[in-house]
Amino acid sequence: MAGHELPNSQSKVDDKELEQQFLAKIAEEIKIEPKDWMPEGYRKTLIRQIAQHAHSEIIGMQPEGNWITRAPTLERKIGLLAKVQDECGHGMYLYSAAETLGIGREELLDRLHDGQMKYSNIFNYPTLTWADIGAIGWLVDGAAIVNQISLCRTSYGPYARAMVRICKEESFHQRQGYAMMVTLAKGTASQISMAQDALNRWWWPSLMMFGPHDSESSHSSQSMAWKVKRQSNDELRQRFIDITVPQADHLQLTIPDPKLKWNEARGHYDFGAIDWDEFWAAVNGPGLCGDKRMKTRVNAHENGQWVRQAAQTYARKHSGSHRAA
Ligand SMILES: [Fe+2]
Ligand SMILES: [Fe+2]
Repeated sequence: MAGHELPNSQSKVDDKELEQQFLAKIAEEIKIEPKDWMPEGYRKTLIRQIAQHAHSEIIGMQPEGNWITRAPTLERKIGLLAKVQDECGHGMYLYSAAETLGIGREELLDRLHDGQMKYSNIFNYPTLTWADIGAIGWLVDGAAIVNQISLCRTSYGPYARAMVRICKEESFHQRQGYAMMVTLAKGTASQISMAQDALNRWWWPSLMMFGPHDSESSHSSQSMAWKVKRQSNDELRQRFIDITVPQADHLQLTIPDPKLKWNEARGHYDFGAIDWDEFWAAVNGPGLCGDKRMKTRVNAHENGQWVRQAAQTYARKHSGSHRAA
């Protein structure tokens, strides 16, 4: 029966069966791979999440890249340069992972540039002093690790594998940032106050990186059911706080939260309420450095056009396809 198409009801039955097989794999912790059948919602969720993550890595180069020329020593300059390059590499792994879901990176970048896709709001905060570079490594990369360690077990194979590699580099970033904070915290009175000021400004935004409370998070429950997300926003945030408070104590710096207190019964630190008005104002509004970040990104993309063209021409020549043309 050449050209015969399955009647609608038949294809629906097949889809149901395929979905059952998909869910069985998820239940058995078998990774979903690019050529496997997957529900459209799963594909869309992953594209959104992986792309948002990739965009965050490359936009995240800006607040720190800003300090490469002003690093206080050659050693710090080399370290920061390597870190910013790592972040670019993370973006590339993640765009590759997103591409396995059937979307090109050109399109993903277009969607970032025209505002359809987002990146983590943390990178819209300005980096005012050198201590901010220490605080970002310690707190922002520290928060990223807590989130990303959990994502090493995400159900989509290419995303999980990218995370394993990224986490190794993120832990170096966290240590490098913390080492900067140790140096400042042992330094002169003005270095100590610079470190304290950076902690004051980066603490709450770092907690906001984990996203809204579980009860307010619109994508969370489906993502947890598909095992795209393995732990909830609130669980991850608590874990970050529990890890970070002793580190701040070691620095003899004060976390700007008077309600922060060890709770013996819970086995966790209690902490004060997050100012979500500030979060939503930053997410929904043009505030902070969002416009500047986007302008820099679009300029970099436009200025890099000739490099992409040259690379494509080179690749075409060396694949022999120019002979066929
Ligand atoms: Fe990164
Ligand atoms: Fe990092």
